[in-house]
Amino acid sequence: MATTFDKAKKNKADEFYTQLPDIEAEMRHYQEQFRGKVIFCNCDDPYESNFFKYFAMNFNFLGLKKLIATCYSESPVATKQLSLFDVKDLAVKSADAKHPYKIEITEVKDENADGAVDLADVEYLLKNGKNALTLLNEGGDFRSTECIELLKEADIVVTNPPFSLFREYVAQLVEYDKKFIIIGNVNAITYMDVFKRPLAKVKLS
Ligand SMILES: C[S@@+](CC[C@H](N)C(=O)[O-])C[C@H]1O[C@@H](n2cnc3c(N)ncnc32)[C@H](O)[C@@H]1O
Repeated sequence: MATTFDKAKKNKADEFYTQLPDIEAEMRHYQEQFRGKVIFCNCDDPYESNFFKYFAMNFNFLGLKKLIATCYSESPVATKQLSLFDVKDLAVKSADAKHPYKIEITEVKDENADGAVDLADVEYLLKNGKNALTLLNEGGDFRSTECIELLKEADIVVTNPPFSLFREYVAQLVEYDKKFIIIGNVNAITYMDVFKRPLAKVKLS
């Protein structure tokens, strides 16, 4: 039976947020693979996640077709620490601040004409015209029907998923035949149910 300490440990690992410099250092290796693709960050509160921030700010540079991010209703920090934008003007129900939502971005213009595409431009995009912030009805769980529909639309899934659900998370990506870049414990490559080949036959370069 899980003790309070176990739960706290699990929650802490599940709520660890990835730093932007680490994301930038890793993503630069895949820039060509991102071109023309739909990127899905499915464990990423768009207002907290540096994965979302990275892809939003580099949307044009990477030549993305679309960026989708979904947040999870059970996240203890969801919609609380609005570090990326101020959402109060957006289509989030103010009376239900923990209501999960998705953000879909298909165009990022330099709306404030400062010569750089930054988060102010993405904020403008969300507040005007193509406001692509939509409430989710099923909690934002990556296994929910509406998130699976988004997964089907995606070419590449990029995130740091909850550690406690890692096997299930990868199994779903494999089931839907998705390319993915995810952060996991180094021991994960030994999981037989995740990577169907024995470790000895996995070529490490
Ligand atoms: C390790 S944190 C990483 C957050 C973010 N991806 C990042 O890298 O900064 C894992 C995230 O997954 C969320 N999460 C936990 N269970 C989930 C589920 N069943 N479906 C979707 N997201 C979930 C947590 O709320 C948390 O925000």
